[in-house]
Amino acid sequence: MDEVAEYNVERWRALAEGGALYTRPLLDLDAEKARARLDPVGWLGELEGRRVLCLAGGGGRESACFSLLGAQVTVFDLSPEQLARDRLAAAHYGKEVETVRGDMRDLSALRGAAFDLVWHAYSINFVPDARAVFGEVARVVRPGGLYRFMCANPFALGASPRDWDGRGYALSHTYAEGEVVTNVDERWVYEREPREPAPPSREYRHGLGTLLDGLAGQGFRLLRATEDVSTYPDTSAEPGTWLHFVSVVRPWLAFLSTYDPAA
Ligand SMILES: C[S@@+](CC[C@H](N)C(=O)[O-])C[C@H]1O[C@@H](n2cnc3c(N)ncnc32)[C@H](O)[C@@H]1O
Repeated sequence: MDEVAEYNVERWRALAEGGALYTRPLLDLDAEKARARLDPVGWLGELEGRRVLCLAGGGGRESACFSLLGAQVTVFDLSPEQLARDRLAAAHYGKEVETVRGDMRDLSALRGAAFDLVWHAYSINFVPDARAVFGEVARVVRPGGLYRFMCANPFALGASPRDWDGRGYALSHTYAEGEVVTNVDERWVYEREPREPAPPSREYRHGLGTLLDGLAGQGFRLLRATEDVSTYPDTSAEPGTWLHFVSVVRPWLAFLSTYDPAA
């Protein structure tokens, strides 16, 4: 494991201990709620019997949704604490979910799997080289299969509600490929006070060119894209709060592509 991975193992251990939002298993789902969470804009189609990889998607959240919709689910994640939550959620719903520990930059443990869908949770910004990850995904998704990933809007990476200066949210970071940006988690992310606060997020900027050209370069053909990913903008919210921030700055993007090696 290199330093990038070790940092994230430590960070996600602390986040899981504090019950941070993305580490809380979803234990009150039914099929309707599961579909609404995974597929609010209707990208995914029928999931019954589909082989789905939740990539860097530990936490007992998406794996639970997919298994309730009848998919055969594998979760791949770096964090043992996150994967334990997928097993917990699977047991809760009486489902089988496979969990595999590893780094998304090396999916050799999954070679030969031929997934119908790779559902990549927000995580690509935690590694410096997005293209390397796309190359690995290309080796585990079947031709014609889908790859959905979510990432930071590169223009907004590094900005936070704390940047409110009375007029707007000041962008203070250089827009440079690979630039490292750190951010302390918002207090509301936690369910309870962790024994020690998690180390700040450490994210790498991947420009739009890197993301789109990186996909194309590995044989992915873009099908859909959205900026509207789990954000709840509220222009009447207090400036400097998360809800106001996301009404001014769109922090995330999501892309759906299909693997078409012949293209
Ligand atoms: C924001 S969480 C996403 C999963 C979550 N279930 C959700 O609700 O979106 C990011 C996940 O990425 C994982 N992660 C970070 N770096 C990784 C890496 N290099 N390889 C695999 N997983 C990684 C973390 O352990 C964490 O579970």
